[in-house]
Amino acid sequence: MGEALPDSVPQHVAIIMDGNGRWAQARGLPRKAGHRAGAESVREAVDACLELGVSFLTLYAFSSENWNRPQKEIDALMKLLEQFLKSKGKEFSKKNVRLRTIGRTNLLPPSCREQLAKVINDTSGNTALTVILALSYGSREELTDATRRIALKVQAGELDPADIEKETIARHLDTAEFPDPDFLIRTSGEFRLSNFLLWQLSYAELFISPKNWPDFRKTDFREALEDYSRRQRRFGRV
Ligand code: FPP
Repeated sequence: MGEALPDSVPQHVAIIMDGNGRWAQARGLPRKAGHRAGAESVREAVDACLELGVSFLTLYAFSSENWNRPQKEIDALMKLLEQFLKSKGKEFSKKNVRLRTIGRTNLLPPSCREQLAKVINDTSGNTALTVILALSYGSREELTDATRRIALKVQAGELDPADIEKETIARHLDTAEFPDPDFLIRTSGEFRLSNFLLWQLSYAELFISPKNWPDFRKTDFREALEDYSRRQRRFGRV
């Protein structure tokens, strides 16, 4: 693919990185080997965004529901996240990438939270790409938290219920500072949203890849974006 036309590149891509476990299982490896291989696909997706001019990349790295997995797998994912953050700190700075998070990150282990805070702080001035990790994230949880924050403002007399608009809701979500995703990629052939960005994906184009996430590499990302560039978005108009 040559350089894509600027207006046909999505500004914000969101990805449900599914199929790590199945990738590992198919090779007779432990599930954590699938997650490790998945971390390499994350690196390629970041590079592809930089090359193609995508400004925001949101990755569903750990869902609220993932807390129900066996403790051993949760520990492996947290360790991987910590390693990822330790190695990405420098790389993100070099590549002008800013890191942010959405989700109830206060529930993550302290060592992860420290690494996150460090990389977020170190990369806060970077401007080429914003990588948003959804960690301990669930859309219904996010909407619940937003509703509580709005209710508290009403209770305090700071907000009139008659003034609650769509924008009021959007401003109280974890994603308040980011544009909505234009394009959602989900791997491993599942046609589900799995409690991911339910509000924010209202008008997103969807792309389902049959590949498991560890097999979804730069060329796959490029092909998905080519598909996006051929679509016509109408936002409910004719
Ligand atoms: C879904 O595969 C993937 C996850 C639950 C975790 C995603 C995490 C990574 C890609 C690790 C690296 C990311 C960072 C940011 C360090 P699954 O386990 O549900 O696969 P399955 O459906 O085949 O079991």
